[in-house]
Amino acid sequence: MTFTRPLLVSLAVLALAAPALAAPAPAITPMPAKMTVSDGAFVLSSATRIHVPAGDAELLSVAEYLRGMLKTQRGLTPKIITAAPKDGESVIRLTRIQTLVAEDNEAYHLTVAPDGVTIGAVSRAGAFYGAVSLWQLATSEAGKGKVELPAVSIFDTPRFKWRGLMIDSARHFQTADEIKRIIDAMASQKLNILQWHLTDDQGWRLHINAYPKLTEVGAWRQPAGAAGFDKAGKPVRYGGFYTQEEARDVVAYAAARNITVVPEIDMPGHATAAITAYPELGSEGTPPKQGMSDWGVYPNLYNVDDRTFTFLTTVLDEVMAIFPSPYIHIGGDEAIKPQWEQSPAIQAKMKELGLKDEMELQSWFITRIGKHISDKGRRMIGWDEILEGGIAPDATIMSWRGLDGAVAAAKLGHDTVLSPAPDLYLNHRQSLSGDEPPGRGQVVTLKDYYGFNPEPAAIDPEARKHILGLQANIWTEHARTTERVERQIFPRLTALAEVGWSAADMRSWDGFARRLPANLNRLDKLGIRYDKAPFDPVPALTAADGGVAVSFTRSLELGQVHYTTNGKTPLASSPVYTSPLTLPVGTRLTTRTYLDGKALGTAKTFTLSREAIETRTSQQMGTCDNKLVLNLEDDGGERAVVLTDILHPCWLWRGADTSKGLAITAEVGSMPFNFQLGNHPEPPKVDAPVSAEGELNLHLGTCEGPVVAALPLGDSGKTPGISVLKGTVPATAGTNDLCFSFGQKAPPPQWVLKSVRLTVHGK
Ligand code: ACM
Repeated sequence: MTFTRPLLVSLAVLALAAPALAAPAPAITPMPAKMTVSDGAFVLSSATRIHVPAGDAELLSVAEYLRGMLKTQRGLTPKIITAAPKDGESVIRLTRIQTLVAEDNEAYHLTVAPDGVTIGAVSRAGAFYGAVSLWQLATSEAGKGKVELPAVSIFDTPRFKWRGLMIDSARHFQTADEIKRIIDAMASQKLNILQWHLTDDQGWRLHINAYPKLTEVGAWRQPAGAAGFDKAGKPVRYGGFYTQEEARDVVAYAAARNITVVPEIDMPGHATAAITAYPELGSEGTPPKQGMSDWGVYPNLYNVDDRTFTFLTTVLDEVMAIFPSPYIHIGGDEAIKPQWEQSPAIQAKMKELGLKDEMELQSWFITRIGKHISDKGRRMIGWDEILEGGIAPDATIMSWRGLDGAVAAAKLGHDTVLSPAPDLYLNHRQSLSGDEPPGRGQVVTLKDYYGFNPEPAAIDPEARKHILGLQANIWTEHARTTERVERQIFPRLTALAEVGWSAADMRSWDGFARRLPANLNRLDKLGIRYDKAPFDPVPALTAADGGVAVSFTRSLELGQVHYTTNGKTPLASSPVYTSPLTLPVGTRLTTRTYLDGKALGTAKTFTLSREAIETRTSQQMGTCDNKLVLNLEDDGGERAVVLTDILHPCWLWRGADTSKGLAITAEVGSMPFNFQLGNHPEPPKVDAPVSAEGELNLHLGTCEGPVVAALPLGDSGKTPGISVLKGTVPATAGTNDLCFSFGQKAPPPQWVLKSVRLTVHGK
């Protein structure tokens, strides 16, 4: 059968009606351009041979890659041969074919038949992707050893030529080996660009021979707050950098997987680490006043002296010697201009150049850098701010502030990559679960990623040829560990990969979802830690006649929730949750999600205690405002993750029964306020404090409502970590919303509310 859109739709319908009858498509993700399944199967075993034409070193390298993947992931050891296979031998043939044209550089044919497998491509890239598809066929099901591959004929070619992931190694550092593991997973999804964010305010991560202090000084910082001191009270030095040898090794490792590493050296802003190392590069001529451990937008910009351009072009020359990428990313984002406005030298330079404002100066700056890059035969790419004050010739625009930058660039005849926030920003939470790693509070789900439209109507069809493709970005301010980086990237990157590769009429969320368990299984085998929390149901508990009423919310409506009440892990045959349950107080309820009989996420056990009914976490309450919501890590102690709006810390408990009065138990924590808010002029909104230490206020109705309880913070601020406060709320008729906020002087510190327990008086 050939997989075309109408058939996929009818298969999906069939699947809903009678799952047992539906024949799922071979689990290849991204979905190939054309795929015809026929009867029969090819048996892949260690007796299989991989044949490459003698003397074709590129195809030999693909064969070696395929062999390595089959060995580590299925324990199979097929030999590579160049001599003609023997009669009857089980063979995978890698061949060059000329029927594809040069633009189909990444295209391939893959034919699986009972008597053999053929991968045909013009280029090494195409052959590599044929090998990835074959490996996917061999790993659709978990297991080791011999495997039957369904007979199938595939022609495949990507929809976009830029299918990217940006990794921020500046805010938090990942080792070169960790980057390589992510590269392996990118290759498994046929992504082909890794933008490597190597410099920022918080760290300079690439050794530069001409300027060694960039990494001697600029690669290290002291973390903010309690984390900045060790157990003996000594300052912690945090950071790291890549030697040029390590960076070259990453480039070669990526190239072997058809991934181009695009280096990013950010300018004229996001430059605090460089200016800390070499203060003469800055616009104030002195070392930056701020340390390097804040998040947000710093004011520090490079100055525009000739010797600063000598610095930048020397750095770029060393960078270009390491990274053969045709594109060089120069950042260009969030360069707020107060320092340029206030510097007499910079104002004089602006006048001398006849530039009317700082935007034009930025454009002059970027154009000068762009010329240096194009003189070296490369192309400059930058964030969409480089449109401001006039776009540099030949610049490619990476559109992140929505799609306006892409629309403007395409209109001007410039190429663009779509990477809008929050749609493709991986630092956002991907579900409402309390188990999500820290990051931005707004939820962007796997399904949201899948629904991203890479051909926006705002760009007219003729100009869409300028859309090179799309990219997801993982910013790591709050991703302190590489495990968190991976959990934020995956599995959403799998959805992005399909949007970037597969034609719109070959894609469907249902089809993608049914191939997801196989994909997750492969990520497991690659050693990638993906986020499981979105697959798990989040319980809401209320008191009910006869016990506790339990309902679930689910960020992804995938599969079905199965449950047990006997402490055992639910199986696919366990009862299915369909509507709220009423169970006795004290029951231990365990849930697990299954899709097509395959487990997704994790088994979760909840005790239906009175305390659980009466308690809500910050994530369950939600913030009362939406200025800058973060799922933020507490500064010390148990390092809890708390949802807060850093510009207006407040939380809402909706619908509390206040008629009998309430006892409050609140868990609070104080954190350093390590944010540079250059682009947010308003200070954070807090209540006026009554005492010097401040208090947790409870407002009735809304956050502007009367304060009906004020719990003194007392000594809580003296210890990092979480403290417990207790208080009471007087009886008020009916049910009411309650808003929690803090009375305090302006942050720092910033106070956060981890959880609240409300107990009805007399219970
Ligand atoms: C960006 O998110 N500042 C490109």
